[in-house]
Amino acid sequence: MQKKWWQSAIAYQIYPKSFLDTNGDGIGDLGGILQKLDYIASLGVNVIWLSPVFQSPMVDNGYDISDYRHIDPMFGTDEEMEYLIEQADKRGIKILMDLVVNHTSDQHPWFQEALRDPHSKYADYYLFRETDDGNPPNNLRNYFSTPAWTRVPHTNRWYFHAFAPEQPDLNWDNPAVRKEIADMVNWWLDKGLGGFRIDAISNIKKSPLALSRQTFEADAPDGTVLAKDWVANQPGIEVFLEELAARTFRPHNSMTVAEADVPPELLEAFIGPEGAFSMTFDFTYADIDIRDIPPYAAPTFTVADLRAAIFHSQLHAQKIGGWSAPFLENHDQPRSLDKYIPQNDIGYASATMLATLLLTLKGTPFIYQGEELGMTNCPMTLDEYDDLSVYAQNEQGLKWGFSAEWMLAYFNRRSRDNARTPFQWNSGPNAGFTTGKPWLKVNPNYTKINAKQQIDDPASVLNFYKRLLALRRGSTVSDILTYGNFEPLDCIGNIIAYRRTYENHSVLILLNFGGKPVDFKLPQQKELLVNFDSLEWHDGLVTLMPYQAALLDEA
Ligand code: NOJ
Ligand code: CA
Repeated sequence: MQKKWWQSAIAYQIYPKSFLDTNGDGIGDLGGILQKLDYIASLGVNVIWLSPVFQSPMVDNGYDISDYRHIDPMFGTDEEMEYLIEQADKRGIKILMDLVVNHTSDQHPWFQEALRDPHSKYADYYLFRETDDGNPPNNLRNYFSTPAWTRVPHTNRWYFHAFAPEQPDLNWDNPAVRKEIADMVNWWLDKGLGGFRIDAISNIKKSPLALSRQTFEADAPDGTVLAKDWVANQPGIEVFLEELAARTFRPHNSMTVAEADVPPELLEAFIGPEGAFSMTFDFTYADIDIRDIPPYAAPTFTVADLRAAIFHSQLHAQKIGGWSAPFLENHDQPRSLDKYIPQNDIGYASATMLATLLLTLKGTPFIYQGEELGMTNCPMTLDEYDDLSVYAQNEQGLKWGFSAEWMLAYFNRRSRDNARTPFQWNSGPNAGFTTGKPWLKVNPNYTKINAKQQIDDPASVLNFYKRLLALRRGSTVSDILTYGNFEPLDCIGNIIAYRRTYENHSVLILLNFGGKPVDFKLPQQKELLVNFDSLEWHDGLVTLMPYQAALLDEA
């Protein structure tokens, strides 16, 4: 296998709005990222994924772009973005921007022109359909729990949106749209970007049925059905992906990570040796608490389920010769500690155990801002949330018969705002995030969990991350942890254990994912890194204490 630059990368995701505010408006900005570049570099990462900073009305916090070639003034200027790319480069860090091309903002000039003139060429940039009875073409529901069609006021035209009404879907069947997108991507790559994280890319190709006049069998009491089966991973999508890659990413040797929940048979088109992207995010283990269960239900997974999902994901990517992007958190997920660890067990040990998992899987790991401190979910009241999907889901949940208390408990556990609270820099006012009024509640635990205090404490979660990153990127076992084959070990109880092997040399990873000590059968090995204490070896067994995690140099 030919080695690629991004295979040895470790990425750090920044949600700019919540990272650091430098002008007192309560909103994080590019100036804040520039100020903290040395902090980011000190972790040992060499790629930054920036959630969208393009011009946007911010209905979905920038995932609704109204101008792809300019930075939103809320975040800074075009010049600052170029300076950031340059300054990051100086520290050996490449920047990935967020490519949101399934849809634009409804304020994008293309859409505005399409609204104004149904005969303009821009009308064919989107998915408009006409009906003559005042009803939408069909009863599909978008990912944000509202109808997928919105009527253009005073007309019989409707447009399709897989997300919010302010995010009209682009018509990828139109070659002119694909050309505009490719030109824009190249324009950015020519500025020295490392590549892109690519938003909602599974949805770009629609089944003709999605756009047809009919009534689908409903999956909800309000008579709607989730659009996913007709808009995600549709046959022929691979042709669009390949065309985009050939025109843009491949000639630039870019790193591309697709946000794509892809069925196993399609994964090769995405990340196989000839695939369109460098890697995909696999949601099977991040969404384990909501997957295949009805909306708003309580989670029921066990460590054994989680282990099976992780092993399956790793083995499948490996089997097709593909590369993956392990992650436990991002701006759409709650904090991983709250998801995977019982509340009473959240702390240094469990946080560093999760870190060990994330940074020893095969693939390019993504750390989400604050994860390196062990930041946790933030309890909020309904009006403290600032996410359109919370409000849409709340309305839907109440209609479906869930109580207001039930819905709030669900949001406290699952809302995207759990991970979007401001970064906790220090124990000063607003956690050092802003001198103004933060746009979203600061987690009250910032006095205990913050970067300043952890930088100074050699036994902090943050310093454990640094040690792990140093092993992964700058040690004698780096090649093993980067390129090594992934092989599950026979696991018992709450243990997750696997081996990484490269050129006949192996590292074993042992994680106790539970609150009780476990004896695991293993002859004594050399300890490369343990999250706390040393392991106890006796009679061909090793005792792993609750949430103990170890990397062993296999003799
Ligand atoms: C996925 C993004 O991560 C999420 O934040 C956004 O709301 C949707 N795609 C729509 O762009
Ligand atoms: Ca600001």
